[in-house]
Amino acid sequence: MKLTLEELTRAVHTTFRRWHRGETEARPWNEMLVVTRRLADRTPAALPLAVKEVLLNALAELEQQAVGSAQLLRLRFLDGLPATAAANRMNLTENVVYKQQAAAIEALAAAILRSESEARAEKAARVLERLETKEPPRLFGIHDKLDQVLSTLSAHGPPWLAAVLGIGGIGKTSLVDAVVRRLVETSQFVNIAWVSARQDRFTFWNGLEEKVLRDAALSMEELVDTLVEQLGFLDLGQLPATQKRAGLRARLNASPYLVIVDNLETAVDYQALVPELQNLANPTWFLLTSRHSLHDYPGVRCLSLDELSENDSLELLRHEMSTRCLEGIAGVTEEDLRQVYRVAGGNPLALKLLVGQMYTLSLSKVIDNLRQARGRSVEDLYRYIYWQSWSLLTDQARKVLAIMPLVAQSGGQLEHIATLSEVENGPLLDVLQQLIALCLVNVRGSVDDRRYSVHRLTETFLLNEVLKWPTMP
Ligand SMILES: Nc1ncnc2c1ncn2[C@@H]1O[C@H](COP(=O)(O)OP(=O)(O)OP(=O)(O)O)[C@@H](O)[C@H]1O
Ligand SMILES: [Mg+2]
Repeated sequence: MKLTLEELTRAVHTTFRRWHRGETEARPWNEMLVVTRRLADRTPAALPLAVKEVLLNALAELEQQAVGSAQLLRLRFLDGLPATAAANRMNLTENVVYKQQAAAIEALAAAILRSESEARAEKAARVLERLETKEPPRLFGIHDKLDQVLSTLSAHGPPWLAAVLGIGGIGKTSLVDAVVRRLVETSQFVNIAWVSARQDRFTFWNGLEEKVLRDAALSMEELVDTLVEQLGFLDLGQLPATQKRAGLRARLNASPYLVIVDNLETAVDYQALVPELQNLANPTWFLLTSRHSLHDYPGVRCLSLDELSENDSLELLRHEMSTRCLEGIAGVTEEDLRQVYRVAGGNPLALKLLVGQMYTLSLSKVIDNLRQARGRSVEDLYRYIYWQSWSLLTDQARKVLAIMPLVAQSGGQLEHIATLSEVENGPLLDVLQQLIALCLVNVRGSVDDRRYSVHRLTETFLLNEVLKWPTMP
């Protein structure tokens, strides 16, 4: 929904004409950030007042550059003088008054549009900061799913809760990431929050054999705190818990926000959380991801992700191989790729891990190894692939990978990983390169702020398999 100068100029004129009636048309104002952020702590009935504030601000700015134009608008609309009277007051002909008035309204609309663009860009940057990936990965076979989620979220009606469901590594977070990237460019939602139900707090352990403890996962209180912070409701921050929740609810019920809750199934008590979210919703939408089914909840629109089709899987394999500049790719035949697909299925993460192995092993060796995994469950398939990748690592790389569950989900910096792994920065960079090539570690962030993290499935493998049973089963 791109707002044009023409449309806004018309809206400014109409609002000026109705200045003393205390009313305004809803569109386009109710979709503009410069207006809706003034509504954050008021009811939608305050829209005309918020619009007036925006116009008065813009008028004050116009006064700095063009006193005459601002004065004319004040006389005509705020003081309500007819054109003839305004013309007399300003020593102009009526004709000139109309011309100058039109130009002044357009200048005012242009200024508001600039502020709106700035506000949208700022908001987009803040929202994108919260995403797990900085550079969106190329995704295959998700267009229909993406459209389905976007169309669900565009409804101004119940159920207000939607969920993307599917097994680990199937692409839930990636799909929702793509949804957010699309919506952040629009004004459909006043703001977008991204909360991961998976918490990052671990207890440090001495030696690899000791158990790693995870602190309690997301609770309702933590969710409320995170939303208050991310959505910028600073005034609610200091309130006692019940008032804070009531305040948050009032705002989420007043204007449309979008709240992503990723990895819902890891929340303390996700069954109890769903009805609580339903309370906060409308017109705010909640978009959840979960490995567990939520089909039992009547008020949740569910979308299940299945394996990629054979064609999409092949595309993914080809893309991964070419972006990773793998040698020998020229000799890879369609049939080779089909063989990988036949064993690994359309599980994107499994396919990426296998391409990673091709750094060290030839494609035929990777396929050979995989034959033994044929017919196993997806869990076994992943376990099998991870053990293969693990077997390709140097001792130092294993040491580094094993500490990665201690690093925050948003990623750890080189120095932090160096401290945890006791591997110095220099060799550590080489090790990380090896792990990235194998698709075992993800890198994100800017050149000045590189952050390294592992996927949840990689983490599960490390915690459940490697740290419990340090030898291959
Ligand atoms: N459609 C796709 N095309 C290409 N790559 C994909 C696709 N879907 C997912 N991936 C890649 O597969 C990996 C796993 O995806 P993602 O993290 O979204 O899975 P998930 O379902 O959220 O898993 P989990 O339940 O463990 O959180 C990521 O590296 C992602 O980039
Ligand atoms: Mg995920």
